Amino acid sequence: MFTPAPSRLAHPALLPDFDRPYGLPAFNSIEDALKAYDGDDAIYVLYPQKIEAAAKTFLNGFPGTSVYAVKANPHPAVLKTLWASGLRGFDVASIREIDQVLSACPDAELYLMHPVKSRRTIRHAYAAGVRHFAFDCAAELGKILVETQDADDLHLHLRLALPSGGSASMPLEGKYGAAYQDAVDLLRAARPVAARLGVCFHVGSQCMDPADYIRALSYVDGLLETAGVEIESLDCGGGFPVAYPGLEPAPMQAYFDRIAKGLKIFGFDGLEIIGEPGRALCGEGGSTLARVELRKGQDLYLNEGSYGSLFDAAQCAWKYPVKRHSDSASDGDLEDFRFFGPTCDSLDAMAGPFALPADTREGDWIEICHLGAYGQALATNFNGFQSETTIAVLG
Ligand SMILES: Cc1ncc(COP(=O)(O)O)c(C=O)c1O
Repeated sequence: MFTPAPSRLAHPALLPDFDRPYGLPAFNSIEDALKAYDGDDAIYVLYPQKIEAAAKTFLNGFPGTSVYAVKANPHPAVLKTLWASGLRGFDVASIREIDQVLSACPDAELYLMHPVKSRRTIRHAYAAGVRHFAFDCAAELGKILVETQDADDLHLHLRLALPSGGSASMPLEGKYGAAYQDAVDLLRAARPVAARLGVCFHVGSQCMDPADYIRALSYVDGLLETAGVEIESLDCGGGFPVAYPGLEPAPMQAYFDRIAKGLKIFGFDGLEIIGEPGRALCGEGGSTLARVELRKGQDLYLNEGSYGSLFDAAQCAWKYPVKRHSDSASDGDLEDFRFFGPTCDSLDAMAGPFALPADTREGDWIEICHLGAYGQALATNFNGFQSETTIAVLG
């Protein structure tokens, strides 16, 4: 059993009960939120309107069905905002994610796209109405068939390993996906047992070159020709990027256009097309407010770090956009700073550099932006430091 998080009552100085349009305390600005907050921990911020805008971008532009990769941020407010924006599909990996989505959006269509699942997860998913299952080897296909009692209504998605060499900042090669000849054999094996059959791939997260999707489609084309197997669906996975300093991608429409072009070139436009964006749907819709507890030269010691929402800032040295919120009026020259997180671990350090006003000092709040994906979702309570406060900022 896991130990429940300490109750909010253990931290009496939290936010009062506000109007909660997104099930969260909601404010018109960060300044309003900070005036109301008397806690000691970092604050996680969601900007529901930015998440809505990202959902609309995909619903209007992606040439197929957009399915949200829940792992990027499973907060109920994110799930409900996406649902309210018109998104109906959710890619889940675990029993908890299945239950989280169904409790926030009971009519959601779930896609269990993790290539390795426990037998209990498969049974739970099928009983919960899931019909989309990914697999990348014969043993996993066998598990799915046994645990669904050879169901005749399965939509099976073969996860492919793409040849390496894409442009993603976070390649996903090497762990999952069937290699070429295995994929050929698996397509032939799965065809007779699948009500619907498809292939799926992932070009890697934060893909910086829209042409990676065309290369992936070309690979699929060759594979299907070798296998001689008809499929019904093609899932282009995630990988759609967000702008971070030093990692500014092409506009999202360029990705959609390349995919649409590839689908046409290879004659896939008659198939059911699926995409599984995670980062691109919620990355810009979340940030973290961290307080400076101590300044030593250009080093800022914060109440949030790599065991909180700043994992990628530490481990991948990503430089997120930052803004200072201070009682002091000055917003003078910017200087470069490093961040240190609150835990005792020396890995809890974010080199940045992060440009902030030169007079940044103890008590100032730093908003670290574009952390809505794989930031808040990765936070732990290591060393007793954790944010228990998520707010919505409107507008
Ligand atoms: C199966 C699957 N689909 C979708 C995603 C979402 O990827 P991204 O956040 O890069 O869009 C991931 C991320 O790891 C994944 O593993």
